[in-house]
Amino acid sequence: MAAESSSPSKNIVLIGFMGSGKSSIARELSHALGYPMVDTDALIIKRAGKPIRQIFEDEGEDAFRDLESIILRDLEKSQPTRRIIATGGGVIVRPENREILRRLGFVVWLVVSAGEIIRRTGKNKDRPLLNTEDQEETIERLLKDRHELYRCTAHQEIETDDLTFPEITTGIIESARYFFAG
Ligand code: S3P
Repeated sequence: MAAESSSPSKNIVLIGFMGSGKSSIARELSHALGYPMVDTDALIIKRAGKPIRQIFEDEGEDAFRDLESIILRDLEKSQPTRRIIATGGGVIVRPENREILRRLGFVVWLVVSAGEIIRRTGKNKDRPLLNTEDQEETIERLLKDRHELYRCTAHQEIETDDLTFPEITTGIIESARYFFAG
């Protein structure tokens, strides 16, 4: 990476809808750059001591969002550097979170189409927001509601439908070089 710049922390933050490949790409980036990976969902699970599905069931979505904000605040306080930070798909819903994410580093939005999300998330029951009667309608609605929020949070967007994970990873590393050099 190039010399110090406006964002000296050099974290790469991945945002995007459920099933956009954030965790897989984060692992690839972590491997390629030798930066440790941080996953906000995993930190929430650790802090709550139960799976996300259970948090939603016991305490509801607002409580989950509160935890998400607490985790991000804590993360920022710990002043991470050279980390790959993967986030939950709804992390951009709260304005406070969007600001923290941009302060944490280079924010990349993994853009994925509704069709691809439906294909990838179809059989997985671990995502409470998608356990609805009409999953396709839910995905399309959430995507529409969130589109602008992803866009205004991200420094960079990548259309991922037709790319392989290695191609996406290489693209992010190239863009991050420019960003951190800026
Ligand atoms: C959510 C996405 C999930 C998880 C939670 C809520 C969302 O993470 O944070 O189920 O609101 O989109 P993934 O995007 O990793 O599935």
